[in-house]
Amino acid sequence: MTIALSLIAVLVAIAVIIIGAVVGAGGGGANAGPEASAEESTTPRPAPTAPPEPAVVDTFDKSAHSLDDPASIWVVVNQVRALNPEDYVPDDLVEVPVAHTWVPELRQEASDAVVAMFAAAADEADYYLASNSAFRSYDTQVELYGDGDDPTTAPPGHSEHQTGLAMDIGTEGGCTFECMDDSAEGEWLRANGYRFGFILRYPADKVEITGYPHESWHFRYVGVELATEMHDRGITTLEEFFDVPGGAAQ
Ligand code: DAL
Ligand code: ZN
Repeated sequence: MTIALSLIAVLVAIAVIIIGAVVGAGGGGANAGPEASAEESTTPRPAPTAPPEPAVVDTFDKSAHSLDDPASIWVVVNQVRALNPEDYVPDDLVEVPVAHTWVPELRQEASDAVVAMFAAAADEADYYLASNSAFRSYDTQVELYGDGDDPTTAPPGHSEHQTGLAMDIGTEGGCTFECMDDSAEGEWLRANGYRFGFILRYPADKVEITGYPHESWHFRYVGVELATEMHDRGITTLEEFFDVPGGAAQ
């Protein structure tokens, strides 16, 4: 009898051990879910990573036009980059049919752009613009330059006016130079010139880069494609955009 009871006790103990092992292993059943959730909520996970930004592909072709050829609409002329030849004269100058003090001449493409821009200023804003200076020959620049005392006058052979692509713009009302800084017309030109292919060539905050004091009246035609690219990228000087030398001549 004692032996039988002992045997039963041993069998019960073995059964308890086996059942305990099966349940403790968590091999499925109702306990599996909560245990898994608890583990997930306490295990650190790597922070989700944002999908990569699509690469910005710069498709603008900076070599589409020459920076050196005086007949190129992108020619970069400044105190350290002379026109070559220095007495260059454009071969497609036309009289620009707009209000003016001096009779303005520009290259045909720049002239058409000025006419369109002045018309838009009148139509869109009731502003009436006028030209004060456009093409200037080498000899005219010699006269204006004199002994070089005026920091806003380029040395002969170094003036954008000689390219037939630059115009000093004021108002029909008689505002000519510095008054364009604060005039509504000047503000309109600074905001809208790019639509017609013009840039304000000598910005107030880029004197060291251009080599010239702020000229709120001097606009340079570079074509709509480049002017728009510079506008959209917030790059205001040709020297910075094309990474070419500028500043004052030593
Ligand atoms: N006013 C500009 C710098 C020129 O003389 O060409
Ligand atoms: Zn000028």
